[in-house]
Amino acid sequence: MIIDILTLFPEMFDGPFSHSILKRAQLKGHVIINLHNIRDWSVNKHKTVDDYPYGGGAGMVMMVEPVVRCIEELQSKTAYDEVIYLSPDGELLNQKITNHLSTFNNLLILCGHYKGIDERIRTHFITREISIGDYVLSGGELAAMILTDAIVRIIPGVLNDETSALSDSFQDNMLSPPVYTRPYDFRGLTVPDVLLSGNDKEIVKWKYEQSVERTKARRPGMMGERREG
Ligand code: ADE
Repeated sequence: MIIDILTLFPEMFDGPFSHSILKRAQLKGHVIINLHNIRDWSVNKHKTVDDYPYGGGAGMVMMVEPVVRCIEELQSKTAYDEVIYLSPDGELLNQKITNHLSTFNNLLILCGHYKGIDERIRTHFITREISIGDYVLSGGELAAMILTDAIVRIIPGVLNDETSALSDSFQDNMLSPPVYTRPYDFRGLTVPDVLLSGNDKEIVKWKYEQSVERTKARRPGMMGERREG
């Protein structure tokens, strides 16, 4: 998969993309992540990328020219499955959407800043708008990192133990069961004995029951969304 990210702050991505699973996924060739500084496509010598909004109002707006020139140059080399804009007014991100996006070959992700981007970019060049939650961030960069992480970790082969992505919370519209590791006894707090029983059937049953209980208690609406069969 190739993910091209358009941003005014490419350095923000350095940390999250150069550690742990995202780092390994890139090293193993499962994903190529390219960061593009929108400022490089600015049309004037001051490298301007934002301007005052028509009609007045607070804040600046990201200009249409640099963003569109950047998108079009990338599109001349790559056919994108989706051109995504991260925005609080997009569709709310969930596991179903990340699963779907992880099946694509080429994604372009645009990060907005300031008061947003010129509406003409949204209506004519963006194919999908995604929000990571009902709150407003200072820009789309953190949201793009979250979206990228959620997509890349489920590309087959990225996780060592492939089943560990399948057993994530949300994969079956259920939360994950609790997990424990050594020591067995921490200040009198012990691990449920069934996990040490060696009885695989009982362990699977216990985990399932714990998932159901936890989902009902914490996310009661979620189990209604479970697929039939
Ligand atoms: N940009 C600003 N806030 C955002 C949010 N909640 N989700 C995605 N992009 C954003």
